[in-house]
Amino acid sequence: MMGDRSGPPDRRHMDDRHVSHGVGRSVARAARSVLLAAEPLAKVKAARAAARAWRRGELVHAFDVAMPERPARPQRPELVPANRMPKRGRGGSERGRIALLHALAHIELGAIDLAFDMAGRFGAGLPQAFVNDWFGVGADEAMHFALLDRRLRSLGSCYGALPAHDGLWEAADSTAHDPLARLAIVPMILEARGLDVTPATVERLERAGDIRSGRILQRIYTDEIRHVAAGTKWFAMLAESGGFEPRSHFVRLTKTYFRGALKPPFNDSARAQAGLSHDFYEAVAVQEDV
Ligand SMILES: [Fe+2]
Ligand SMILES: [Fe+2]
Repeated sequence: MMGDRSGPPDRRHMDDRHVSHGVGRSVARAARSVLLAAEPLAKVKAARAAARAWRRGELVHAFDVAMPERPARPQRPELVPANRMPKRGRGGSERGRIALLHALAHIELGAIDLAFDMAGRFGAGLPQAFVNDWFGVGADEAMHFALLDRRLRSLGSCYGALPAHDGLWEAADSTAHDPLARLAIVPMILEARGLDVTPATVERLERAGDIRSGRILQRIYTDEIRHVAAGTKWFAMLAESGGFEPRSHFVRLTKTYFRGALKPPFNDSARAQAGLSHDFYEAVAVQEDV
């Protein structure tokens, strides 16, 4: 599933050329520049530039700077605790749809940081394919943000116009020391959650006559299956190379680091497409009240 991303060219020759041209930017520096871009447009541009530079073989596979503790954030939106967020409604009214698209844009902006942080923080000592995958994911997230922000503007709003909450980075913060914990919580729990809820949201938007927003969410959904697949694949590889049984280690990490409740119903077919088998997530799911 990940094979559609062409890998970077052989870097041994590229490195010489870049040193002689004085480029020599590293993967870590490119990732850090994305995390430190505060304004959304600057972050999107940095993400695209980093992904392009890596694809073209212009970045050295080196991890010579640390990732920041927190990514830079724009002045707006105002960040509020999750329980103080205005109700989104069901996506029927235009106001409800704007609130929904705004919340999703906020998640995508955070997802840009999470993807580049994954590559820049944990990539040292891992194959270049790890950077291929997470820089590719980061470029997708930048596209998702841009599509949602453009849609908000065509509805007379924009990203930053409403408050947002800051829950996503908490997951990153608590798993900054362990790539397996990060992979378990971010792609395999949080991004997989998106697969469960998006089809119904697309339907609601279409029913409300908002075909354009529905199409954007459908596009995001397709990409997110690939993101969950990347997380699942790297989790299995790193668990096995670390001597952990993947499923029981996933359950252990999730119980330690995931503070939310994972509730059915699950989108089993999308999760299966991403290689995420139900014996992983059912073991950490809460029982549905009957
Ligand atoms: Fe996304
Ligand atoms: Fe994603």
